[in-house]
Amino acid sequence: KRHLLSAADLDRDDALLVLDTAAELASLTDRAVKKLPTLRGRTVVNLFFEDSTRTRISFEAAAKRLSADVINFSAKGSSVSKGESLKDTALTLEAMGADAVVIRHGASGAPHRLANSGWIGGSVVNAGDGTHEHPTQALLDAFTMRRHLAGGEGDLEGRRVTIVGDVLHSRVARSNVLLLATLGAEVTLVAPPTLLPVGVETWPCATSYELDPHLKHADAVMMLRVQRERMNAAFFPSAREYSRRYGLDARRMALLPDHAIVMHPGPMNRGMEIAADVADAPRSVIVEQVGNGVSVRMAVLYLLLGGAQLGAGTDLTDAA
Ligand code: CP
Repeated sequence: KRHLLSAADLDRDDALLVLDTAAELASLTDRAVKKLPTLRGRTVVNLFFEDSTRTRISFEAAAKRLSADVINFSAKGSSVSKGESLKDTALTLEAMGADAVVIRHGASGAPHRLANSGWIGGSVVNAGDGTHEHPTQALLDAFTMRRHLAGGEGDLEGRRVTIVGDVLHSRVARSNVLLLATLGAEVTLVAPPTLLPVGVETWPCATSYELDPHLKHADAVMMLRVQRERMNAAFFPSAREYSRRYGLDARRMALLPDHAIVMHPGPMNRGMEIAADVADAPRSVIVEQVGNGVSVRMAVLYLLLGGAQLGAGTDLTDAA
């Protein structure tokens, strides 16, 4: 495959290949192999029209660990603020010889436009588009669940994942539902009716307005950020009422089975969708998710930019 635009681009074998490659890369890093020559001479552009901490930094770290050259472009401080279009920005990057463009954009569909336009010749990776998708977040979440719930191998067949909160504005939720369904997990979305999108009944998951009944069966509970910046102020939920009904606090965490993990893609509204002591609890894997993001993004860049498929005899320390 040339691009990664949606979690739906990945069938089960594709998804497992990315997760297995990420695991191989993580084990090399664990063995103190900090930098691989694999993408020497390739250029990765991080094209960020929306703010990011985790995704931007982890794509940069991933590309550098594979020895690629990295160009970081942030719309703030660029000629986008003078009105330059996505097309002219893309043509400029193409002139600089980008082999991969990692794009985050506030408009749903912007990465698809870039990939299908012919403006650039390299691979396009969706790093979050509007309220639509964030496929590498779903991959790092699956990688994290696989480590804790499936011994690091195989798919997530039958694992129960509860995703809670502002599904309406969440690209993370949509990509997770698509990927987790591909991997055989059973997903339940829990949200107030006003924060579920139209058409959610066609998604491959269950939905509920009540959180407590789902906690005692969950293998993983993923809390979503309430995205106030995408809401009309008149529709802001009251933080107190929201956290009373949908927040994960110590009482609710105690309802989870002992093996269950607590996840959040970040950034968190501590005290709203997740209590501070829950975010920092031993069963919280939120910081680990960030670290796993580097391995997963290394795998995505490695596979898209011509890395040989992993198999017996593949040596990741060789240049691709
Ligand atoms: N999870 C996530 O996408 O975080 P950032 O917005 O900080 O990249």
